[in-house]
Amino acid sequence: MEAKSSIRPTPPVIETRRIVKTFPSGREVIQVLNGIDFKLERGKTASIRGESGSGKTTFLNIISGLEALDSGQLLWNGNRVDLRHFGELAAVRSSQMGLVFQAYYLLPELNLWENVLLPARLRGKPGSLERERAEYLLHRVGLAERLKFSVEKLSGGERQRAALARALMNRPRLI
Ligand SMILES: Nc1ncnc2c1ncn2[C@@H]1O[C@H](COP(=O)(O)OP(=O)(O)OP(=O)(O)O)[C@@H](O)[C@H]1O
Ligand SMILES: [Mg+2]
Repeated sequence: MEAKSSIRPTPPVIETRRIVKTFPSGREVIQVLNGIDFKLERGKTASIRGESGSGKTTFLNIISGLEALDSGQLLWNGNRVDLRHFGELAAVRSSQMGLVFQAYYLLPELNLWENVLLPARLRGKPGSLERERAEYLLHRVGLAERLKFSVEKLSGGERQRAALARALMNRPRLI
């Protein structure tokens, strides 16, 4: 007989079960994700490789709750994600996830420092700690000299570094 352990293992930060995703393409339907099982344990890093157009961005959008799936399950920290609860998901995303997008999505009407500070602003009025953190993060990605710079004048790599600083702003559990 086995003794029952009272210690529950920590659930994966992200888990997907048999995720299927299709997109309409003219009269056809293209199946982009074909039943993906994936787990990311706490403290681990995963890299997803595949040809251009193979579905990497689609998968990342799905696991961050930004895109609907056709079938399958998505779990965050062991909890089923229900995309109908959009507001709750946005709150979890804002407090626990830092997203770096392929297309950056920096806001041109805000300067560099304001872009990095934005995740803190969305959670309330940022204090001096947050303002200093935004500056520190820009320093860490090598953009300390450009705090008031227009993001539209940044190079692609500089934008990506700025997006990384923004993703780290709220000290996310998951990047
Ligand atoms: N909203 C959409 N509507 C229709 N088709 C889409 C949509 N989004 C993505 N696709 C298609 O799904 C496929 C996967 O796209 P995705 O962006 O996930 O690829 P990727 O692996 O990230 O590619 P890359 O390496 O070029 O960034 C592509 O064929 C793309 O055209
Ligand atoms: Mg992509």
